[in-house]
Parts: sequence; structure tokens; C-alpha cells
Amino acid sequence: MAQKIVVGNWKMNLELNEAKELIQGIKNTQDDVRVIVFPSSVFINAVSEGKNEGVEVGAQNFHTEPKGAFTGELSISQLRSSGATVGLIGHSERRAYFSEGNELLKMKVDTAMANNFDFIFCCGEPLMIREAGKELEFVKMQLEESLLHLTKEQMMGKVIAYEPVWAIGTGVTASFDQAESMHRSIRTWIHERYDAETANNVSILYGGSCNQANANELFSCPNVDGGLIGGASLKADSFCTIIDSY
Ligand code: 13P
Repeated sequence: MAQKIVVGNWKMNLELNEAKELIQGIKNTQDDVRVIVFPSSVFINAVSEGKNEGVEVGAQNFHTEPKGAFTGELSISQLRSSGATVGLIGHSERRAYFSEGNELLKMKVDTAMANNFDFIFCCGEPLMIREAGKELEFVKMQLEESLLHLTKEQMMGKVIAYEPVWAIGTGVTASFDQAESMHRSIRTWIHERYDAETANNVSILYGGSCNQANANELFSCPNVDGGLIGGASLKADSFCTIIDSY
């Protein structure tokens, strides 16, 4: 069975005191649900010191090199030494605003694997692609070019987040059918590439205007194993309600 996971991506929001206050209010009341928050990297240390049991802290981004002359960048070992246990790879905002393409994202996947650093691999199509009816081939290509080169052993237990770009921060959520259809397809591709065991062990999260009002319905999709939450993760009560949707 795929692990159920609820993730808060705080993006470039909150100041130190606000981040410290928010993490205190986040409680994981579900034994079988993994809860992870991604603060700004500068606050990872403070947030991991203030977190409650059953909550993990991750890094929104990391560099592929272990150290050296890369001004402004952060390596996995630096992030890990600050308290991060997992990284985000390929968020659509990094793809769109920081020109991160499939080739670089593959390198990040390989860097994470080489450093034994857990990660969540994000994928999702822009509106134009969905309107053209090409969302399945677009997302399949993102996965094939950056992630599906891993071996079966490496792929077991991995986490993929499907975030349709048109649903991020827009208040427009994918419908039950839209989410389930993409998630089912992703699981099928993993099954075809590897096998049923691997496909059933990969967690596929949904992201994009997921909130306390719709989490229950989205999480009831058979192939949705949790959520990657932006705006609604910035308040402890709404994020905890989403966790409790399980
Ligand atoms: P919103 O929940 O604000 O739409 O953001 C989703 C997201 O991008 C999480 O990574």
C-alpha cells in the first residue's frame, strides 16, 4: 500500500516568528499519515527545532553540487544538517520562473539518490496543454525524462505530486474525475515500466487549490494518496483539518 502523505509547501511566505508559530500549531494526529512541511530554507533549522512529533521538515529546493562556489545555493548536506529530511524536485514554480527543465530535474533526482535524500517529484501540465487535450502525454514525458530511469528498487516508496499548473493558487481545483484520471494514468505508467508492486508502493499526491473544504473529496479518489498544499497550509487550523481529512 502507498503511504498516505499530507504536505505543506509554505513557498516564499512567512517571517521567522510566523514560521515558528505556525509549526507549533501543526499536529499529526494520524498514525498512518506522513506529514511534511516545507518552509523557506532559511527557517528549516528553527522549524525543525519547534516541530511536533510526527511532522517532518523539508527543503523547497537544493543544488546538485555538494559544495563550492555556487553563491546563494544550498547543498543537500547543508540542508540535512539544518534539519531537512526531504526535498522538493520540479515544482512548477521552479520550472516556470527558474527555468528548471527535465534534464536538470533528472540530475536533481540523481543527486538526491546519491545522497540518500528523500524527495517529492512534482509534475503537472499548464492550462494550454490541458485545453489541447495533451495533459497525459505531457506529464508522462516529465516523468520519463526525469524520474523513470530509476531502478525498481529505487522507485519503491517514491513520492510523486501531480499539480496541474492551472489549479495552483487559482481556487480552481481539479475535479474528482480529472484528478483520478491523471493519478490512475501515472500509476499505470509505473506499472508498465516496473511492476504492480512498485506501482502500488509509490505515493501520488494531488496539489492545486486543495483546502479544508475539498480535501475530503480529493483524498477519496482511489489513486490519490494525499496532498501537496500551498495556501491552505499557511494556517495551522486549515492544514490540520486537511490532515484530519484522513
Ligand atoms: P495552492 O494550494 O496554493 O494552490 O498551491 C499548491 C502548490 O503549489 C503546492 O506546492
